[in-house]
Amino acid sequence: EDNQKRIVIGFSQSISEEDSWRKSMDNTMMVEASLHPEIDLTISNANGSTKKQINDIEKMMEHHLDVLIVAPYGSDSIVPVIEKANKKGIPVIIVDRKVNTSNYTSFLGADNVEVGHIAGKYIASMSNAHANVVEIKATTDISPSVERSLGFKQIIDQYPNIKKVSISAPNLESLNNNFSKVLDSMQRIDYVFAFNDNMALQAWEVAKRKGREKNIKFIGIDGLNDPNGGIQAVKDGKLTATILYPTGGSEAIKLAIKLANKEIVSKNNILNTTLIDSLNADIMSNQFDKISVQQSDIELQQNKIKEQEKKYSTQRNLLIVIILF
Ligand code: FRU
Repeated sequence: EDNQKRIVIGFSQSISEEDSWRKSMDNTMMVEASLHPEIDLTISNANGSTKKQINDIEKMMEHHLDVLIVAPYGSDSIVPVIEKANKKGIPVIIVDRKVNTSNYTSFLGADNVEVGHIAGKYIASMSNAHANVVEIKATTDISPSVERSLGFKQIIDQYPNIKKVSISAPNLESLNNNFSKVLDSMQRIDYVFAFNDNMALQAWEVAKRKGREKNIKFIGIDGLNDPNGGIQAVKDGKLTATILYPTGGSEAIKLAIKLANKEIVSKNNILNTTLIDSLNADIMSNQFDKISVQQSDIELQQNKIKEQEKKYSTQRNLLIVIILF
């Protein structure tokens, strides 16, 4: 029965599924993989450790691999193992964060400089180019943080009456401390632009404790469509806007299939992003809901087909037995 060629895909995820953006990436990969019965997808999770991520990839390479997908944690220490896979002739797809080598096959992700541009332009147009802005960055050693901040600066610097203060927060606890201090030292803050929706929402909590959340407009990034995600936060009025940062899970699997079939693919595959605010939050979540319903319908149908195939093969075996005797 197994006459279709198997495609073995290994995915090395960097951050645990407690992070809903990561969970969504893993899920969309699994859903897409389930739509292609020839795919064997294995996911390993490095839980925020580059050392474990290197080890995970080494382990995957001990077995046959048609394509390796990596969502890197950091951009440097991971380089040798990626180059090793590349040297072995395994097609490598890098998703979301960048790595400091060009020895891989394809990159897939949204353009983080553009994400920063979108946030900057939104603030400039909403405020008539007059505003006090606090930017909350993540750590400096990951490409999304560096690029989002760069794009944001490129726009904000064009407006002399937009004043920007930047703080860094490698985790939510340091965000609490650092943003608290900024709130105490700045009487007027019009906008907060945070590295992601979780940080924007945490900043909203800190401001709320000081009774200041209503005077500040919070902008985040990710725009996940789940109860704790950015789209709901826009609907609830906590965030003024979120910028969609797609995880690219299903696109990564589609790209992997093309590579396994030796098709030619682009080195850079850029995912679309867009701003979500109160004007389009409903439309966006309705669209995403529809897509999930369609996907689960397809999954159901796939399972039915598999059941039918099983029934058919037992019936056939039975028939063979009858004929033989
Ligand atoms: C999730 C996350 C997202 C962010 C992305 C950048 O782990 O922090 O919130 O957009 O990773 O790599």
